Amino acid sequence: MSSGTEAGGFIEPSEFHLYDQTVNDDFWRQVNHLRETCPAGWSNGPWSEFDSGFWFFNDFATVQKVATNWREFSSAEGAAPMQFDLDIMRMIPLETDPPMHRDIRKALNPFFTPTALKEQEPRLHAIVDRLMERCLTKAEGGQVDFVAEFTRRLPPLIFFEAFLGQREEEIGWILEALETLLLHPERALEVAPKLMFWEAEIIESRRAEGKRDDLIGVIAHLEVEGVELDERQRVETFNLMILAGMETTMGGLASVAWELACVPDVRRMLARADEKLLDSATDEFLRHASPVPGAARTAHADVEVAGCPVKSGDRVLLNWASANRDPKQFPEPDELIFDRSNAASHVAFGAGIHRCLGNHLARREVKAMIRAVCSLSSFEVEPGFAPQFRPSMARGPLSLPVTMAR
Ligand code: HEM
Repeated sequence: MSSGTEAGGFIEPSEFHLYDQTVNDDFWRQVNHLRETCPAGWSNGPWSEFDSGFWFFNDFATVQKVATNWREFSSAEGAAPMQFDLDIMRMIPLETDPPMHRDIRKALNPFFTPTALKEQEPRLHAIVDRLMERCLTKAEGGQVDFVAEFTRRLPPLIFFEAFLGQREEEIGWILEALETLLLHPERALEVAPKLMFWEAEIIESRRAEGKRDDLIGVIAHLEVEGVELDERQRVETFNLMILAGMETTMGGLASVAWELACVPDVRRMLARADEKLLDSATDEFLRHASPVPGAARTAHADVEVAGCPVKSGDRVLLNWASANRDPKQFPEPDELIFDRSNAASHVAFGAGIHRCLGNHLARREVKAMIRAVCSLSSFEVEPGFAPQFRPSMARGPLSLPVTMAR
């Protein structure tokens, strides 16, 4: 998708789409300009293969207000800025409203609390160390692509090892399938059915065992208001569990790694930071990068929002990225300010009932990478290196060639 905007020009609000290649190639300049000149408005851009035209909200206050109003702004008709056919695949619980959403989150939340994740901490650090060692070996005497060797590897390894009990050597084909989905989405039909077949088999074997105490066991027995999910819904839930934390966290890690590679003095400062400052730096990096730039809702009422006459049935885009750079919420929003008092109020993980289930896990992964990278004596990109981004549900540099040394 490309709007054909002149180089250096700004996209017209009526043509705005988060996945427009012109917007992506010049992301923050375009997004900041749009928020400043048109905080809320109507775009004629597409939101599915067949439909176009949506309201967009760019400022922090409006994005928060709509995101926390699930009664009037539903996710059940889709939550992606470019909507897949929900009859083919629904992302559960993302594309559901209460009561279904409430019951599923209640069952899944316990696996992703800070207390539950504390147990996984040694495993996370072991995986980070393993990947860093491989990167350092590959970088000897040259460059290594930190995206290919680290940021695209960490999220699947931690999720499959820690949550699903699968070892790296067992899941080679899954890592390859995820890589294909990520880098060649046009080939999704080649790999997605195999992945979903594997998911269905694992769930059914848990049901046969009657095992309910691990994540798959809970998904295998999910109920909504006392009625079990059907087989397809169980697979759709398991599938989102796997995919929701992949491209998103990979994009976040890659963006943060790129920022770190550009600022040696920040790395030196963070190498000496205490836990509190590292936590706040992690949030500040995520605010600044906004790996998931937006989400969609469908209005279930006629309601005026920021002066826009939204009608029931209208599609609405929540621009998380723009909200995260709103100077009314974050003074000097384009700067990284690690001791911002409200760093954690960002909407990189969304807001309201759908706020990211895996946010504590993602934060821990990003923090562990920051710690590991900042402990190196060097981690550099070529001066002037400009990474490529692909318009997608989650943004992050597609590659990051670095030199690095212990
Ligand atoms: C930096 C990494 C991540 C970012 C930026 C991110 C971002 C988001 C955002 C913005 C939403 C809200 C979408 C909406 O409101 O429509 C969301 C929801 C979700 N995320 Fe994440 N995410 C990340 C990592 C993860 C991880 C590691 C998991 C692991 C399970 C995960 C699982 C989910 C799930 C299941 C939902 C749906 C929650 C619901 O509908 O209640 N995410 N994420």
